[in-house]
Amino acid sequence: MEKKVILITGASSGIGKSCAEFLSSKSYMVFGTTRNKELISKSREGDNAVAMIYLDVINEESVVNAVNEVFKETGRIDVLINNAGMGMAGAVEDSSDNDVKRQFETNIIGAVRVINEVLPHMREAGSGMIINIGSVAGYIPIPYQGVYSATKAALLSLTFSLRNEIRQFGLNACIVQPGDTKTNFTVNRKMTQKSLSGTPYESRMKHSISVMEKDEINGSDPISVAKTIYRILKRKNPPISVTVGFKYKIIAFLFRIVPEKLREALIASLYA
Ligand SMILES: NC(=O)c1ccc[n+]([C@@H]2O[C@H](COP(=O)([O-])OP(=O)(O)OC[C@H]3O[C@@H](n4cnc5c(N)ncnc54)[C@H](OP(=O)(O)O)[C@@H]3O)[C@@H](O)[C@H]2O)c1
Repeated sequence: MEKKVILITGASSGIGKSCAEFLSSKSYMVFGTTRNKELISKSREGDNAVAMIYLDVINEESVVNAVNEVFKETGRIDVLINNAGMGMAGAVEDSSDNDVKRQFETNIIGAVRVINEVLPHMREAGSGMIINIGSVAGYIPIPYQGVYSATKAALLSLTFSLRNEIRQFGLNACIVQPGDTKTNFTVNRKMTQKSLSGTPYESRMKHSISVMEKDEINGSDPISVAKTIYRILKRKNPPISVTVGFKYKIIAFLFRIVPEKLREALIASLYA
């Protein structure tokens, strides 16, 4: 049987890299993407190697080229894992237009850009699955990561809409929401410009970010996300959204049933 083709954005490190390696070991043909030209390798070493191609979600041309390249080589894209993303920290008041644009440009506009490039191929084939990588922060908004949390809430909302739009073509979408995961996300986190130059939020922000960083560094191995995605791909009727890890599933459940004010108090006790 022909191998299914998977395109994973942001496969140079962390969750994307783990997914790429794990899924290629499970006999999928995997194309990963990176902005790092030194990591580009079109040759596959052995059956399970991942081909790495250039893609910057902020650059439309690179998205078009990357999707075309995969399609030209394989004639199909069965699964898109929309994983590329970054985090920006700082109080909402300390987030300039540019900070907000940069965060949304990567995590939302970039994700939609890739979806829109892949969908015509999937529609023509009459099958395909889009897996968006959201975050627990999409429904548990974290202080001093308000804009990041907003991008992940937007991705959650977008996934719901997308499912109802693409079902008529035989296509499916799902959102996978990891909790704290040990990746380069922590060192790659950017601070908003204003939060670096003396802010009334400074002491609480620093405390909150240090809690976040500690949780991430002690977080789950990204392989847990890869295994979750593998299980989703094996299912005949995939779920709409999946929270990764037992601990976060319990937290997600509690957050659905407790009143808003209590939810807010819980978040404040952890981060604020
Ligand atoms: N780590 C966590 O605790 C956690 C929790 C929940 C959700 N997530 C989400 O998981 C996803 C992956 O993050 P990670 O934790 O694996 O972090 P990571 O180790 O920093 O990896 C981020 C990946 O995204 C790519 N990327 C960043 N900006 C990009 C852009 N403009 N265009 C294309 N690719 C870009 C990077 O690739 P290059 O630099 O090579 O281009 C890299 O491969 C993100 O969407 C993140 O929001 C992470």
